[in-house]
Amino acid sequence: MPLMTVYRPSTAKKAVFFNDLIDDTMKICVATEKPFARAAVDGIRDIVEKAGLQMSLLEKYTDKADLLSAVADADALIVRSDKVTAEVIDAAPQLKIVVRAGAGYDNVDLEACTHRGIVVMNTPGQNSNAVAELAIGMMIYMARNQFTPGTGSEISGKRLGIQAYGNVGRIVARYGAALGMKVYAFDPYANPMLFDADQVQAVSSVEELYACSDYLSIHIPATDQTRRSIGYDLICRMPKGATLVNTARKEVIDEVGLIRALEERPDIKYITDIAADAQATLNEKFGKRVFATAKKMGAETAEANIKAGLAAASQAVDFLLHGNRKFQVNK
Ligand code: 3PG
Repeated sequence: MPLMTVYRPSTAKKAVFFNDLIDDTMKICVATEKPFARAAVDGIRDIVEKAGLQMSLLEKYTDKADLLSAVADADALIVRSDKVTAEVIDAAPQLKIVVRAGAGYDNVDLEACTHRGIVVMNTPGQNSNAVAELAIGMMIYMARNQFTPGTGSEISGKRLGIQAYGNVGRIVARYGAALGMKVYAFDPYANPMLFDADQVQAVSSVEELYACSDYLSIHIPATDQTRRSIGYDLICRMPKGATLVNTARKEVIDEVGLIRALEERPDIKYITDIAADAQATLNEKFGKRVFATAKKMGAETAEANIKAGLAAASQAVDFLLHGNRKFQVNK
């Protein structure tokens, strides 16, 4: 059952939007199909109420209609992977800002927001450690036969490839190195000095990265350029016995190509926290060579929820009250 609650500040201050007094206390709607940890919700409410604003909370909704009615009087919207479509934007006539509490904002229709003059922000880096820990955990889980009897292997001494050297990729590289892995990375957009600083071997193409990675950890965002970019050709370049780890987005995988590669290369494994559309087929065809968590869970830690949730609340408040646009992604 979805839960919708409205919290009003005890001492209702008039909110100021770009220094113009407005009549009503502004409202920040937190809409999370996959709820934040309680401590994160309490922290968000605290920030919102201390700023003299109202907060409404919609959690565990399954019907889009609940989201549409939740945003009807919202000035700000805080979401996780919730889909903020043009329909949601249309249902929110007062909306001024959407904050995606997390890194990837492919769930937000940027064009629809920009068209309406709505600011979109993410909270970069706040949940990165949680995702990085899961990526490393997934490598060990596959190396140890999904924790079932039988001889496994160690990840120490193996080659770890990082595809995209952003906030998450950089932490995975650090943890991998600490576990004795030799770390390689490919990211044409990263500052090359980072690789030297982290003692990571930068390679010059994504093909080269796949070819040298016993474990390949994907950290690219889902964009028009990256959707379905990882398929048969890249996966087949991986060395014997390699494992592909996807804690990024399911959309970056060409699922037809993945299935074909797994068919032709019975030594390769695939693990993800974002089940493929064809996950049932993958499970049926490849058994324990593949694994997907029941729900996307990279950022599912209390710590990550608190950091991302509180950052989202502070950013929304700071924008509504002071017009601060730091972290805006639809400039
Ligand atoms: C992100 O982009 O920050 C992660 O994928 C986390 O997404 P979530 O908030 O839906 O868990």
